[in-house]
Amino acid sequence: MQNRIRVIGIESSCDETSVSVVQKSGDKIKVLSNIVKSQIEIHKYYGGVVPELAARAHSDIVDKLVIKALDKANLTFKQIDAIAATAGPGLLGGLLVGVVAGKTLAHYLKKPFIAVNHLEGHALSIKLEQDIDYPYLLLLVSGGHTEYTVIKNFNSYKRIGTTIDDALGEAFDKTARLLRLGYPGGPEVEKYAALGDKNKFELPMPLIHEKNAHFSFAGLKSAVAKIVSQNRCTEKFKKDMAASFQKTINEIIFKKTRNAIHEYKRIVKSKKTLKIVVAGGVAANKSIRNSLKELETLEDCEFLFPSIKYCTDNGAMIALAGIERFERNKFNKLNFKPRPRWPLDKNAVFMKGKRAVEG
Ligand code: KG4
Ligand code: ZN
Repeated sequence: MQNRIRVIGIESSCDETSVSVVQKSGDKIKVLSNIVKSQIEIHKYYGGVVPELAARAHSDIVDKLVIKALDKANLTFKQIDAIAATAGPGLLGGLLVGVVAGKTLAHYLKKPFIAVNHLEGHALSIKLEQDIDYPYLLLLVSGGHTEYTVIKNFNSYKRIGTTIDDALGEAFDKTARLLRLGYPGGPEVEKYAALGDKNKFELPMPLIHEKNAHFSFAGLKSAVAKIVSQNRCTEKFKKDMAASFQKTINEIIFKKTRNAIHEYKRIVKSKKTLKIVVAGGVAANKSIRNSLKELETLEDCEFLFPSIKYCTDNGAMIALAGIERFERNKFNKLNFKPRPRWPLDKNAVFMKGKRAVEG
């Protein structure tokens, strides 16, 4: 195997354009550069991501970020071994920009092109900073995804829990919008929650009594909407509502993670302490982190959280997934098409709206 590998990673699946260069020398991973350009300023007027505007903004800047990432890494194109780009899941317009940029570079430089699943990037992101052996349990909580997946080995994933409606980040963003806290909502809700009375409002916890690791957040949003409509939206109200929402989320995640741990232990027989990686944008939430930590003694497990900059979308995790694929000669042809829907576990049943269909 080649001793030193350097890969460019391009991320453009949602509202951050990011390009990074990551190097692996022997077993050592080093992020040489990780440039992130957020589109917050563009989308904040709309309270959410506008796909067409996101795609345009990615295409305006992706080439410049590639040059910047290379400069920061102090490298030339010649010293790069492969180009990796997020090819799904995500917003099609954005994916097209990153994938076309990656393919063009790969073709021009005569280097391999690697199509990366964004969720695999999140699943492996912890390896940018610390060693971890397979298998482990992943709790992925982002703006588009909420799932528990057993990471059995590289490229061997089994999903054991997911949401049947909204993703957790979506629930945070919708609550923030109802409380007029701005976009992106997650960090704002967290800030307000720290200042409010968490016992002020009682919110529902859908599916909480089911002994599985599935979530439902849509009813929670409706409950918040109802309470908002019955109150004056003062600063005090916003703080109390955010605190009550955060507390409810913490309780749901705590209970469902416990269920997921039990499910994991049924599947994976091991005497080693179970490691649980919490990744994705919502993993930046300190209140959730602290609440999950309480499970460590109860369930003999250890939680690992990537740094905040690697929780939210970034090119480094895409470059790292690219390195893992490079080492296994997993390259893609230049006619690879972006996949707006691309589950990590290809055998996982599509659960959105499942209950509604089954009654
Ligand atoms: O992983 P990510 O950057 O993009 C997607 O792949 O979706 O996650 C973005 C999501 C948004 O919904 C944002 O509100 C949420 O992560 N988020 C947070 C926090 N920081 C970001 N949610 C709760 N608390 C936070 N501190
Ligand atoms: Zn993401």
